[in-house]
Amino acid sequence: MTALWHGFADMAEVDGAEVTIVRGEGVYVWDDTGKQYIDGAASLWHANIGHGNPEIADAVRAQMVELETFHTFGPWTNARATELADRIAGLAPLPDSKVLLTSGGGESIETAVKLARLFHAIKGEPERHHIVSRSNAYHGTHGIGTSILGMPYREGFGPLLADTSQVEWDSAVALEEEIQRVGPDRVAAFVFEPVIGAGGVHVPPPGYLDEAVAVCRRHGVLVVADCVIAGFGRLGGWLGVERFHLHPDLITFAKGVTSGYLPLGGVIVAPEVAAPFWDEPGQMFAHGATYSGHATCCAAALANLDVLARDDLVHRAMELEADFHATLSELTSHPLMGEVRGGLGLMAGVALDLGAIDDDPSLPGRFTSAARDAGVATRGLRDGLAIAPPLIIELEQVAEIRDRLAAALDTL
Ligand SMILES: Cc1ncc(COP(=O)(O)O)c(C=O)c1O
Repeated sequence: MTALWHGFADMAEVDGAEVTIVRGEGVYVWDDTGKQYIDGAASLWHANIGHGNPEIADAVRAQMVELETFHTFGPWTNARATELADRIAGLAPLPDSKVLLTSGGGESIETAVKLARLFHAIKGEPERHHIVSRSNAYHGTHGIGTSILGMPYREGFGPLLADTSQVEWDSAVALEEEIQRVGPDRVAAFVFEPVIGAGGVHVPPPGYLDEAVAVCRRHGVLVVADCVIAGFGRLGGWLGVERFHLHPDLITFAKGVTSGYLPLGGVIVAPEVAAPFWDEPGQMFAHGATYSGHATCCAAALANLDVLARDDLVHRAMELEADFHATLSELTSHPLMGEVRGGLGLMAGVALDLGAIDDDPSLPGRFTSAARDAGVATRGLRDGLAIAPPLIIELEQVAEIRDRLAAALDTL
């Protein structure tokens, strides 16, 4: 029996059947029975530098004994928050950008969407508050993130944020049609993941993102790239948008910025969007949280960025991606398998055969459980499971994931 209410869990089933992870080292974690798992999805897409790195622990301890934290409202700040914001602004493909810090991805989405709406309001377009997102999109489970999900997790919560809609994830024509339907002067922002993660690992069709951004530019719609998964090396660059040569107006990040050693996220804001708030007195973004810019979380992030840069982990996904994808794609010879989606960065959607799922809808859930039994810790997808390991993974360990998943498929 447990009092811990797990996320996205049927507690009637999970209670008494929890898997308790007690130790981690590199790409492996161990549960309380001593069973070893290869961390197939970097915990929840965040353990980018791998587990048990003592450098982060040292940085956290040093910060804690000096100053655990001090807030960043009004004129106040702490040295680590300022240092981290400056550093991330320098990593973004948005020269002279500003950075808001948060405690995670969902809070970053809240921040970005509120800021996009307020930006238009103070520019004299208060009617621009509609937010367009995409099918299969996942933007966390806070109020606004839930409102713009492209996945079926909205039912039962009553009315959410008004003025949102979703378009087909791979059609810039659909985006333009939706903006026309709503009214171009009513749309505040378009929110998208460069590569859709939790919604199934969908790489955008060639040219799609350029066209979508061009549509937004034509209609004065702000472009919000949700790089919570894509950033800090997952796609082989600092924010992930570099792979597509994109220059969004706002970029949300979290997860890999600390590799999960402590909770932290944020929003990078292009100078044109920041200008009305920074250039003349009289405007305030009435937003922020107690732990925005928490000094110890920022110290963990700074140490993590050091590791990503020093060991060139930030680019490693690009080096490994072809072999990673080819190795996992060998699973498609199994009769229960459909496709392996991905090919860009270290993220893949290992999808079962749709006919097999039609015959037995419990198959994807059982695949994820069988993978766990076979020693791969991972997240289930609607039609299979996600593989997005720590960026320190070696190709032999990718082969180990393939072999363990093949064994799991055999047990099904
Ligand atoms: C693209 C994306 N945005 C936002 C979030 C929400 O982040 P968090 O779980 O830190 O609130 C996630 C989480 O998986 C995500 O994948």
